[in-house]
Amino acid sequence: MPRFTPRLPQVIRSVLFLSAITLSSAQAAEKIDLIIDTDPGADDVVALLLALASPEQLNVRAITTVAGNVRLDKTSRNARLAREWAGREEIPVYAGAPRPLVRSPIYAENIHGQEGITGVPVHEPAKGLEPKNAVNYLIETLTAAKPGSVTIAMLGPQTNLALALTQAPGIAKGIKEVVVMGGAHFNGGNITPVAEFNLYADPHAADVVLKSGVKLTYIPLDVTHKILTSEARLKQIASLGNTAGKLVGGILNEYVKGDMEHYGLPGGPVHDASVIAYLLEPGLFTGREVNLVIDTREGPTFGQTIADWYNTLDQPKNAFWVENGNAQGFFDLLTARLGRLK
Ligand code: RIB
Ligand code: CA
Repeated sequence: MPRFTPRLPQVIRSVLFLSAITLSSAQAAEKIDLIIDTDPGADDVVALLLALASPEQLNVRAITTVAGNVRLDKTSRNARLAREWAGREEIPVYAGAPRPLVRSPIYAENIHGQEGITGVPVHEPAKGLEPKNAVNYLIETLTAAKPGSVTIAMLGPQTNLALALTQAPGIAKGIKEVVVMGGAHFNGGNITPVAEFNLYADPHAADVVLKSGVKLTYIPLDVTHKILTSEARLKQIASLGNTAGKLVGGILNEYVKGDMEHYGLPGGPVHDASVIAYLLEPGLFTGREVNLVIDTREGPTFGQTIADWYNTLDQPKNAFWVENGNAQGFFDLLTARLGRLK
């Protein structure tokens, strides 16, 4: 005798169906527990504003700073400035490594200016640094973290994370993914003919992170040089009419001049903000798993990243290499999020 099961009234079935969809999309869009390691840096500041304007998607637990574009005292001041401009002063800033692991320090004041932020005046932010060093913060936080729970956005030289991994290799367990702005494969470098600045500034650190086995996604020049400003895109940011729009417009107008002149391009890249956009809307980007090798030998290929895009050597895949992105989608996202700020 077939069991008779009364059909639930349509309205009940619809509510159950809709709640199932809502749950799954909420699960799919689970908040990302994020640490941003950065060397602000003009494009770092844009990345920080984008991240701090997206609290429903990114739980920014801390900002850790490193020497890179400019010296550590200025990258740390600039990180504090970015959080003040974003109205997010509850987020702690920890200063980290003042110099690379092995090589002699290099900086990029010629691109980012003496103060490390182009195009707008800077001041001493009201809120200070945390007393703890960034490396100790990373070790303590990643040791205590649930396995695979913390994402790290790596916007400068990878010195802090490399030091933390060397001192406490077990912290790799707490890392979900490291998304790195860095590297170059198809179209050459920006600091040497083959190397990108963040990798060239501390190749040994990048190699430590690569060999740690953490899940790595690289956002290299291959894609950031395809996501360029234009008059129209800068206009859409400036048309926001708020402080954030004016700041980013002023910063980018000045920042992109160097790249536009060097490459003879109609616009310039916003490298680091592409990392945050990838976390917010990964569908804007495409890439593939590759075998990645970093050259740590002093010489003409120092800091070069070799991404085996066609799997020529059939070596183990150890990084997801992003090679393309939706430029207008990126600027629409950036503009919309900046519009949320004051
Ligand atoms: O090569 C571009 C990268 O180097 C960006 O992160 C920029 O801020 C500089 O750090
Ligand atoms: Ca940077």
